Amino acid sequence: MERLLSETSVSVVGIDVNVAKVGEYLADSRFTYVNLDIYDAEKVRAFIKGADAVVSLAALCNPSLYNTTPLAVIESNFTRPIDIVRMCAEEKKWLIHYSTCEVYGKTVAHVSNADVQTQENTLLSEYSTPLIMGPVSAQRWCYATAKQLLERTIFAYGFEQDLAYTIVRPFNFIGPRMDYIPGIDGEGVPRVIACFMDALMSGTPLQLVDGGMNKRTFTAIDDAIDALMLILAKPAHARNEIFNIANPANEISISALAEKMIYAYEKVRRPDMPLPMGAVQVSSEEFYGVGYEDSDRRLADIKNARIKLGWNPCRGLDEALAETVAWYVNHYALAMTEKKALNAR
Ligand code: UGA
Repeated sequence: MERLLSETSVSVVGIDVNVAKVGEYLADSRFTYVNLDIYDAEKVRAFIKGADAVVSLAALCNPSLYNTTPLAVIESNFTRPIDIVRMCAEEKKWLIHYSTCEVYGKTVAHVSNADVQTQENTLLSEYSTPLIMGPVSAQRWCYATAKQLLERTIFAYGFEQDLAYTIVRPFNFIGPRMDYIPGIDGEGVPRVIACFMDALMSGTPLQLVDGGMNKRTFTAIDDAIDALMLILAKPAHARNEIFNIANPANEISISALAEKMIYAYEKVRRPDMPLPMGAVQVSSEEFYGVGYEDSDRRLADIKNARIKLGWNPCRGLDEALAETVAWYVNHYALAMTEKKALNAR
């Protein structure tokens, strides 16, 4: 939002059930906030009619929900957003849909015994890599399969009804304002960055699920937004394309991420905040419940975005973590003190 309003002359209509993340833009005359649930499809249609491009971001995308509320996850990622896809096709509007790197599923190493360190075997490519999920009983994959079927639906609308679309597959975007801290502005288990920040600011050990051996490719939010700005600026290059949006240089195991976050926290920790308590191992069943499985490695091929959009992610992991950790510390310092006092009672 910030970049759209400051770097372009477009008008933005933001549809959300909650104003929290866009409240600071309400005074801008080019921004209109609409308090509406995207499940209320016919009301959303009026806004689609008036738009040049529809950026679809709504999702339940938190792994702790995949095992506990799979029906809601499938509904929010497939059953309901299909209405948006259909309406974009009917109204002949360009749909920019945010999917997920999870559509790649378990990734190659799980099924082929490929050497996971061999980059060529494990690079995930938009138009050639098979998408491999676990069994139905492993509910972790309900999200990825819902997202995958929505991608296939979008593709089919493009094929049969000439829908103009762009599918973005985000690879673990990180930055200020992501997720929430349990007990302060949300409940449950957020994604790993917020889990680790909660532990650091609460003075408890970081929890490494199944030892933290799996890897992720964390992508700085500023790089991710650069990609969206390029997509919007280059419709002819972006239409009917799928783009991995990832910074492969930032690939790291979760246990090494924990070390980096402890280091980043120590640099910005306030005197009244707890010292880091290190990390402990926890089983995935204990942490997420039965039905959790994981992707081992998600290393993206980003040639398509480089060539078609001229996109080049340049924010390193240390820089992105320093900014993110500092934001959490500043934003939650007071609330963490209050939470601690409340828990002590
Ligand atoms: C999630 C979503 O499923 C994706 O849709 C989304 O695209 C992606 O995040 C993202 O942020 O882009 P995942 O990468 O598994 O997928 O998300 P996290 O919950 O951040 O977990 C990352 C890794 O950290 C997993 O291996 C998890 O087991 C581990 N983890 C998480 C810990 O070791 N400790 C924690 O406290 C939390």
